[in-house]
Amino acid sequence: MNEQQKHLQQLVKPTTKEHVERLQQLHDETTYEPPNLKKARKRLKKDVDIHYDFEIPEDMRQIGDNQTYYIRTYGCQMNEHDTEVMAGLLSRMGYTEVSEMREADVILLNTCAIRENAENKVFGELGHLKPIKKENPDVIIGICGCMSQEEGVVHRIMQKHPFVDMIFGTHNIHHLPSLLKEAMFQKAMVVEVWSKEGDIIENLPKQRKGKLKAWVNIMYGCDKFCTYCIVPYTRGKERSRLPEDVIEEVKQLQREGYKEVTLLGQNVNAYGKDLPFDYGLGNLLDELRQIDIPRIRFTTSHPRDFDDHLIDVLAKGGNLLDHIHLPVQSGSSDILRVMARRHTRDDYLTLVKKIKAKMPDVTLTTDIIVGFPNETDEQFEETLSLVEAVGFEHAFTFIYSPREGTPAARWQDETPENVKKERLQRLNSLVNKQSKVAMDRYIGEVVDVLIEGESRKDPNVLAGYTKRNKLVNLKASKSLIGEIVPVRITHAKTWSLYGELVTE
Ligand code: 5AD
Ligand code: SF4
Repeated sequence: MNEQQKHLQQLVKPTTKEHVERLQQLHDETTYEPPNLKKARKRLKKDVDIHYDFEIPEDMRQIGDNQTYYIRTYGCQMNEHDTEVMAGLLSRMGYTEVSEMREADVILLNTCAIRENAENKVFGELGHLKPIKKENPDVIIGICGCMSQEEGVVHRIMQKHPFVDMIFGTHNIHHLPSLLKEAMFQKAMVVEVWSKEGDIIENLPKQRKGKLKAWVNIMYGCDKFCTYCIVPYTRGKERSRLPEDVIEEVKQLQREGYKEVTLLGQNVNAYGKDLPFDYGLGNLLDELRQIDIPRIRFTTSHPRDFDDHLIDVLAKGGNLLDHIHLPVQSGSSDILRVMARRHTRDDYLTLVKKIKAKMPDVTLTTDIIVGFPNETDEQFEETLSLVEAVGFEHAFTFIYSPREGTPAARWQDETPENVKKERLQRLNSLVNKQSKVAMDRYIGEVVDVLIEGESRKDPNVLAGYTKRNKLVNLKASKSLIGEIVPVRITHAKTWSLYGELVTE
């Protein structure tokens, strides 16, 4: 046991009364700013600093020796990747990962705020954490991610779940070592959110989950302010990493043997708009495609920023995959207008036409919200007809969920819940039907599959993905795990394909 750990052992944990008093004090001292559209819109693009000098403070480098951590991640790929960064930081501090929450000395919940049910899951989990803390008062419990950026959530945790040791936001991940130290050595809950809106911190350590597929952030934040969406508040303003930093990271991944890279951004094709020189996602992809890495994807795009140059570069093919995830949200121009999407139904269809003309084999997938305040039956029908017209092969579909602080959350909504559910079901059946049609087309075809490992359902079956992100199951030698192999498709289900290895 090192000195810091000894010190930690001697710590007297606060009584509930002390905790509550400190919470009240913290509450009085902290200047929270709830999501504020007017103010957020005025945020300046310029004052983003890029830091290359990140280091774990010396006194925290061995704090985790013989200690363990567990991180539960909710939400999108951005969150998954943030978890990889936090895991990287913790392992540099000496901690090792455990697969059981109960065995961990540090437990982090990396949360998602996009819809109410995502938040409810986290509050449910907090209920399970209480007895863990009671049993082992030395365990450090942290809440981070998008929910930590919401004022109401922070207050609720402070008041109803005072056993939580730290709450920190999406802009404060690199402070994890010092926050952990504070949480260990102070009696009070440590809260660090709403500090500076977000710099770019390069050189953060990462403990990646996989050895084949890697995520690479190319930009952070979103400035679109769709009226339903909490992301521009929880993730802050758009800020792009420098091309050379992204290119170097991808080259490094190639040297490490990764087969697939997914470029990440909340609004990934706004990449470069904030850079002081003329450079966009098209330029970046044009450089990245020359790196000898078999597959490059990107997510998530916005139709408004999908420019001609990007399409031209994607059309060059090679390691740039012809699968584009392009959220449309609704097929009705009226709804799109109140969503502040900045594109109409026709704009979207014209863009799809342009993409298909240059990339005839493209697979398009999307995100759709049904039941936006006062969406009429006719407007919903327009969504169905757009889904058919585009021929989406997959869609993530959601019932609109009001998010506190966003403009749409203030609007009266007369549509009954059961109507919204019915719309979602109709939409899902159409999407499933289209998916099956697309899957059936593969029967008899030979596709390249990146074999990722054993199938989750049957260890005797291998599973992997095609360039267009279709799941393929096949029986073959496990020595093929990590390889890209040709597979002849023999049959298809709605969400997956089955095939056999082509050996000749
Ligand atoms: N309610 C329902 N769905 C939402 N999304 C974003 N905000 C909301 C909300 N308030 C969906 C959008 C987005 C996806 C990531 O989540 O479709 O593209
Ligand atoms: Fe949210 Fe995407 Fe709209 Fe940004 S572009 S506000 S992340 S839905």
